[in-house]
Amino acid sequence: MNLTGGLHWHWRAWRAQARWAQTRTEIETWLLAQPVQTDHLLLIGASAGWMMSTPWLQRYQSVQTWDIDPMAGPLFRWRHGRALKARGVRLACHTGDALSQLPQLLRDQPQLTVFFDNVLGQIRFQNASVEHTQQRLSSIKQTLRGRHWGSLHDRMSGPVAQAWPEHRLPGAGHTAQGASHEAVSTQQWLGLMGAQSPWLDHLTDSIFPEGTHLTNLAWPMQPAYWHWLQAGWVSP
Ligand SMILES: C[S@@+](CC[C@H](N)C(=O)[O-])C[C@H]1O[C@@H](n2cnc3c(N)ncnc32)[C@H](O)[C@@H]1O
Repeated sequence: MNLTGGLHWHWRAWRAQARWAQTRTEIETWLLAQPVQTDHLLLIGASAGWMMSTPWLQRYQSVQTWDIDPMAGPLFRWRHGRALKARGVRLACHTGDALSQLPQLLRDQPQLTVFFDNVLGQIRFQNASVEHTQQRLSSIKQTLRGRHWGSLHDRMSGPVAQAWPEHRLPGAGHTAQGASHEAVSTQQWLGLMGAQSPWLDHLTDSIFPEGTHLTNLAWPMQPAYWHWLQAGWVSP
């Protein structure tokens, strides 16, 4: 069973477009601010690209999407295919477990830039224990050594004091990898979102190498249950 994608996700995403619009714009601004390092993109956890920026995808010569959800490919083509074709970007949509196949994918295609599109924060729901989740994330990080890669993922999530749209989203914030969730700056960020304890830790705090510049984004996934997304890029 796919706990993080599939029909339920598409239905929720389609209905939530207005609520997610600010987060989507902030993701696009963040993506477009990054220099393109290679011409070929591997997008993992692409789904239909509900939160993905078409102008950013158009910067590549080829885009390869992966998702375990069989509906993801056709829906991604529906949402982004025409605009990519118009710019001559080659699009290939694959159904499968890209995380398990990552070593092979990277061996076969050394020129790829890898982007994990809101998928690494869900690994804790696909594993039996915290320890197993941490091992899996650590192994993915090792596999990526020497590559140009980025990720946008859940850092934490939980209830907020006041629901969207009454409570407006704070704009994007910035931090460096290594800041604890108990640090004053992090607590201030959670405070801006109106976080009400307890919040779920998605166990992604060690994904990026120490010192990586990170962008924090608020995402009203549900009106009164928000996610703290963290995004960063790693160069070889
Ligand atoms: C939160 S959704 C991502 C949303 C997507 N980036 C968007 O903009 O619509 C997480 C996605 O990751 C996919 N996924 C989960 N585990 C995966 C894996 N091992 N390989 C590829 N995709 C995976 C799920 O099927 C789901 O579509």
